[in-house]
Amino acid sequence: MEAAAALIRAGQLVAFPTETVYGLGANALDPEAIGRIYEAKGRPRGSPLIVHVSSIAMARELVREWPENAARLTELFWPGPLTLVLPKSDLVPIDVTGGLDTVGIRMPNHSVALELIRASGVPIAAPSANRFSELSPTTADHVRASLGDRVAMVLDAGPTHVGIESTVVSLAGPEAVLLRPGMISQAQIESVIGPVRLPVNCASEPHPSPGMHPKHYSPRTRLVIVDAGSLPAGRGACLWITKNPGSARDIQMPADPYTYAARLYDTLHQLDAEGLDWIAVERPPSDILWAGILDRLTRAAAE
Ligand code: TXA
Ligand code: MG
Repeated sequence: MEAAAALIRAGQLVAFPTETVYGLGANALDPEAIGRIYEAKGRPRGSPLIVHVSSIAMARELVREWPENAARLTELFWPGPLTLVLPKSDLVPIDVTGGLDTVGIRMPNHSVALELIRASGVPIAAPSANRFSELSPTTADHVRASLGDRVAMVLDAGPTHVGIESTVVSLAGPEAVLLRPGMISQAQIESVIGPVRLPVNCASEPHPSPGMHPKHYSPRTRLVIVDAGSLPAGRGACLWITKNPGSARDIQMPADPYTYAARLYDTLHQLDAEGLDWIAVERPPSDILWAGILDRLTRAAAE
């Protein structure tokens, strides 16, 4: 941990576990260190990064306003898989926010992540620790396979527990907006702050959450979402929740969304290494608890 914190202070990259996915971390206050994140990921510069903090006090230094809704949500959901987008303070370099006047912040619910931030003494900017547009890593092995020696150190704390990326909510405008669904559901957020709107279609106006490319979180293998029955030709595998027709290599997935999310990326990483023609995934229930999972699967299936 001391060595990792020293690397962060020296402007280097350290991959670390959070409860959602592994992050590729750098000192959020150091523009050169931030540049190394974009380079290692091969990610376009316009994509804003999430800044990870170890306390509410640290979060408040990064923003110009701390609205009542931020206080309410963080009291209930931090540390945890919820990112809040707020107007940034002058402390935050625009390199971190992709040029935006807002910053995404979260306090991860993982002792290793929190200890790294505390030991470094700075907030840590971290996207998922994978090359751009690839599947996010839920183990240290996934990080090494994707980034290799592009990262100075990988802190290995075993598989992550939540399994998909945090819910992102913007509180920067007059209405709260759900920018990215996750395992903290829209209903949970609305029960605390009232109505949250969904982003308008990104084709018709500037994208509210510039990192959310339609094709994202993808295995290399072609992924298709299926309702039932017909599967593509060739060699593939199927992730089922309810049905199990025995027509392909079938993988039974958990019917509970939280357990499903925790297993999803590792299952896809493993199948992706097999050189199949396709991976089929049974369409998850339309229930709001599955919204984050459906979002990632839809993006992974986008051409
Ligand atoms: O669970 C997670 O959120 C993981 C772990 C490592 O914390 N991080 C993660 O980071 O998924 P990344 O960079 O892969 O996704 C960050 C997303 C961006 O793609 C964007 O949609 C949104 O968060 N975001 C960040 N800052 C924003 C801002 N200022 N305005 C709008 N959206 C923002
Ligand atoms: Mg990512």
